[in-house]
Amino acid sequence: MTRRSFLSRAFWGTLALSAFPFLRPHTSAAPAFPYLCQLITKDPARSRRFLWQTDSPPAKPLLDVKAPDGQVQSFSASVTGNMLGDAGFYLICADATGLAPATSYEYRLRAGGNASTWLPFRTAPPEDGDFTALLFDDSQCVDYAVWGNFLQKARSAYPEAELYTIVGDLVDNGAALFQWQAFFAAMTGTREYLPLAPVMGNHECYGMDWKNSLPAGYLSLFPLPDNDSPNFRGYYYSFDYGPCHFIVLNTQFLELTDFTHGLRAEQLLWLKHDVEASTRPWNIVLMHKDILAYGEYQASTQSSEGFSDAGSVFRNAFDALGIDLVLTGHMHTYRNRGHIYAGKPAEHGPYYIMFGPSGDQRYSVPSDPLDLVSMAQSDATNFRNYLALQANKKTLSITCRDERGATIDSVTLTKDAAKESL
Ligand SMILES: [Fe+2]
Repeated sequence: MTRRSFLSRAFWGTLALSAFPFLRPHTSAAPAFPYLCQLITKDPARSRRFLWQTDSPPAKPLLDVKAPDGQVQSFSASVTGNMLGDAGFYLICADATGLAPATSYEYRLRAGGNASTWLPFRTAPPEDGDFTALLFDDSQCVDYAVWGNFLQKARSAYPEAELYTIVGDLVDNGAALFQWQAFFAAMTGTREYLPLAPVMGNHECYGMDWKNSLPAGYLSLFPLPDNDSPNFRGYYYSFDYGPCHFIVLNTQFLELTDFTHGLRAEQLLWLKHDVEASTRPWNIVLMHKDILAYGEYQASTQSSEGFSDAGSVFRNAFDALGIDLVLTGHMHTYRNRGHIYAGKPAEHGPYYIMFGPSGDQRYSVPSDPLDLVSMAQSDATNFRNYLALQANKKTLSITCRDERGATIDSVTLTKDAAKESL
């Protein structure tokens, strides 16, 4: 999309949504709990967060959770008013806590005399359990129906998936509430049933004028697990799921440099403590920008080849901390680089996979000497790809599939005594 056509859409979309955003009457056809979404928590085996958005503050919002034995427990919800540009919305957030691992529950929402239907959710397995996750990135779209259809195809291929992530650039312009609403609307049928683990990308850090901006939309829409940071809560976080410890890092140094300071140093310190405190067998990093530049100019190296700013900041720490797998996006293409250690191809060390996109934006990306497997981007109708991650305490299996369901690549990492000792 050209900037001009985007701005035209943005203007009219914002105008429509911002005309007395808090005064629009509810119609009987409007859902009482719009954009209902499950969100990841730090310990999803024992808790789950539920969100929805409204134009006016709901009366007495509540979450009911029904255990397998039929017992119902109620949890109160918080209401936060937010402005994004000229548009306003209320975010309602409720946490179910004290849950049992690997257990199927039901939940419903209540507010102002309305109640949702009972819907299922399942808690994460314990450390010795197994699970399947779906991984997407760059769902940014001109037409979010493309993203919705792609998500549905992946869900159909892996109906057992119990968690999904989007590794940055969820929307094209993170300051446009109408884009976020189109994004959530396209996820109907998934967002109510599975917890989402979002990752911030550079497109979450643009204003409506396309200049760099603080990520107000992302931060107000996703109350993420606490990272104990006074300045960067929601920018980066971690959570456990079965045998995996997922570490979500922020690579938006370029976009945020005029607004914030300390994000690199603070994350590096946090990363060290976070990984050292984890007891899970697998450490998996999710971050938007890759460790390689792939033709994009990098301030740290003053080059568009070789390692990127994100690679310069993090790769030595990944080596030192024994990170098993690093999953990235941003370039809208699939590249498997295998293990890289001390900046070179290796038999051990972090395994690097870049993948995506999930939306309708296709790029042409140069190769890198470290690429082992690439997906051709020449087919304009079949360039989207996603990852299915199947994990147990001994094995991580990663499969890349295209929109037609064909396997692009598959990788299996094993946790054996020899590798652990390296
Ligand atoms: Fe990006």
